Amino acid sequence: MTTPSDDQQAIDPGEFQETQRAAWSSVASGWSEWWDTFERGASNLNERLVERSRVRAGARVLDVATGVAEPAVTAAKVVGPTGSVLACDLSPEMLRFGKERADQAGLSNIEFLEVDAHELDLEEASFDAAVSRWGVMLMLDPARVVANIHRALRPGAYFAASVWGAPQTAPFLATPMRAARSVLNLDPPPADAPGPFRLCAEGALDKLFEDAGFREVAHESVTVHMNFNSFDEYRQFLGDLSSSFKRMLAELDSDQRERVWKEVERQTLEYRADDGRLLFANQAWCVWGLRA
Ligand SMILES: C[S@@+](CC[C@H](N)C(=O)[O-])C[C@H]1O[C@@H](n2cnc3c(N)ncnc32)[C@H](O)[C@@H]1O
Repeated sequence: MTTPSDDQQAIDPGEFQETQRAAWSSVASGWSEWWDTFERGASNLNERLVERSRVRAGARVLDVATGVAEPAVTAAKVVGPTGSVLACDLSPEMLRFGKERADQAGLSNIEFLEVDAHELDLEEASFDAAVSRWGVMLMLDPARVVANIHRALRPGAYFAASVWGAPQTAPFLATPMRAARSVLNLDPPPADAPGPFRLCAEGALDKLFEDAGFREVAHESVTVHMNFNSFDEYRQFLGDLSSSFKRMLAELDSDQRERVWKEVERQTLEYRADDGRLLFANQAWCVWGLRA
């Protein structure tokens, strides 16, 4: 098992999780509101994760860092009434909106659990499959989280997880952060700091799987299209839904904030179609492995 870097050891884990919980809870209503726009581009990744983790009818599935319940909802439809999904997240607000989505979809086979994934202490070998979309890279100690998931799976079960690819391949998220840093003269965060682009290198998440004991580890690249009708719509989306961007903007006065948005608009010009829509093709890694 790898250990957190020296930098991360200096972080107080309790404080870090509190900040994370508050940050994600502050964008939960944004995730709920923008769900359709987001999922139009991202649902293909849910399908890959559910397929790669071999979710079947009747299975018991674990979803870690489920947010507003994906891939939990996709998995719950596959397992059907004889199966079940345990959807876990640190943020009660995210889980509340996740439960609303499950209710709206008429699904009664998802159980929601508020828990820090580092403390996930589930019955050993009690799940037939596990999934996690865009969660592992946010953890203070991702190796510990992957090990917790490994322990909860029965031998022969698969875990499939996704993380973003390198910043230059995921422009809908990386471009505004780069623009903000350039206006504010900020350095990029250390490569191993928890955040959307940690584990973005090809093979990085695979290594965590292998270190936790998963076998037959493999990955594929999945393109996630994020399209917006206008820059204004994109601006609204980012401000409502990106916890890292929202946190960055919260530190600024209104003049600095406007300068950041102008720079985001300038740097996203290359993604603008003739009709004014913004079209971003983004790369995510989907990684899976077998609990032997
Ligand atoms: C980018 S969102 C992804 C949510 C969902 N899986 C999706 O793809 O739509 C990341 C989620 O990770 C959760 N999270 C962050 N740190 C966590 C932790 N230590 N334990 C459990 N969940 C955590 C956040 O609350 C948030 O809901």
